[in-house]
Amino acid sequence: MTDDDSDMKRYYRDRAPIYDRVYAYPERQDDLRYLERYIPTQFAGLDILEVAAGTGYWTSFLSRTCRSILAIDTEPAVLRQLQSRPLACPVATRVIDAFQLDRLEQRFDGAFAGLWISHVPKQRLGSFLDRLHSILKPGATLLFLDNSPVQCGRLPITCTDQAGNSYQDRRLDDGSVHRVLKNFPSEAELRAATHTSGVDHKYLRMDNFWLFQYRTPAH
Ligand SMILES: C[S@@+](CC[C@H](N)C(=O)[O-])C[C@H]1O[C@@H](n2cnc3c(N)ncnc32)[C@H](O)[C@@H]1O
Repeated sequence: MTDDDSDMKRYYRDRAPIYDRVYAYPERQDDLRYLERYIPTQFAGLDILEVAAGTGYWTSFLSRTCRSILAIDTEPAVLRQLQSRPLACPVATRVIDAFQLDRLEQRFDGAFAGLWISHVPKQRLGSFLDRLHSILKPGATLLFLDNSPVQCGRLPITCTDQAGNSYQDRRLDDGSVHRVLKNFPSEAELRAATHTSGVDHKYLRMDNFWLFQYRTPAH
């Protein structure tokens, strides 16, 4: 495993037009209705960063309660789709790599990442979180949402590397197959990665998703 994630970036660029199909899978609908109500309540009145925002499925719900959102992603095509959604608060977009958050000058009251932590190599999770925490204000709210292992029923794990990262071979409509890093961190792994840098941790296990939230210390 190298830190070169260029194949995954290409995969999401080519998948942009059909990405939202994942939100139409029947087995996800009950969980999604709950999450669509719950997640925005956690960011009410806040200026937040949305990491790897993609086509903006969550941005649209977040915008109902946030004061402002900066949505970043490496793929301009998905950010254009994001901007075409109904957005109820000011939403800015920027093409920025999630592993280069030090490029951001702004300091945020909160951060959200949907279906992103699963794509972070285990060996990069600590440095990703350190950089994210460094651009948040004291007492900021963080919330990560991601797939539960049930997702492997649609996309089985095809291999695992020496660092313990797992991979799925994903086929696009044009027949091309892309090997994509997809991890399923346990609650214990998430808590271990954040216990010194966060407080008030909460983990929610759902049928199709998990949700992990905490705050940066107040001082
Ligand atoms: C699974 S999608 C999640 C999209 C959205 N957050 C959601 O929940 O629907 C992953 C997103 O990560 C983006 N991405 C991939 N590598 C990235 C990186 N290094 N930095 C920022 N975004 C990246 C892809 O372009 C894609 O939009």
